[in-house]
Amino acid sequence: MKEKSVELLNKAVADELSAVHQYMYFHFHCDDQGYDLLAGLFKKTAIEEMLHIEKLAERIIFLKGDVEMLADTEVKKVQDVKEMLDMATKMEISSADDYNRWAIECANHADSVSKSLFEELVVDEERHFDQYDVEMENLQKFGINYLALQSIERSKNIAAGRPVD
Ligand SMILES: [Fe+2]
Ligand SMILES: [Fe+2]
Repeated sequence: MKEKSVELLNKAVADELSAVHQYMYFHFHCDDQGYDLLAGLFKKTAIEEMLHIEKLAERIIFLKGDVEMLADTEVKKVQDVKEMLDMATKMEISSADDYNRWAIECANHADSVSKSLFEELVVDEERHFDQYDVEMENLQKFGINYLALQSIERSKNIAAGRPVD
């Protein structure tokens, strides 16, 4: 029971680390291009994924395993906003699918705490998906105006002396 749970929890750590790296990469480039809303959303989500790693790590260590802090994919150098949102929605769907299956696997070998942890993470990943999906819809609906508005908002904040995230 313990070994299988530790293996699945470490696979989740690898997935979460990849998400942290990818979303921070997106954050840097949205920030550089002046898209504050998206820059803030990617940073906030990266921080939530990091907190997922903490919960997974606590469970692994409780089960007397060790945390393999290895990302499972390399960062993709995507700098186009539509491609970023497309990739981010796919990453969230894939994480939610994995965690749903792994919750069932943990239930099957009678580890109800790991099962609940995976279920808890699915709730967050579905929310992340929804946030990215809304932004994708905005981009499709309003096109370049959607990005222009974010740049204008940044200029207003800078002019008013408000900190830019
Ligand atoms: Fe996550
Ligand atoms: Fe997520």
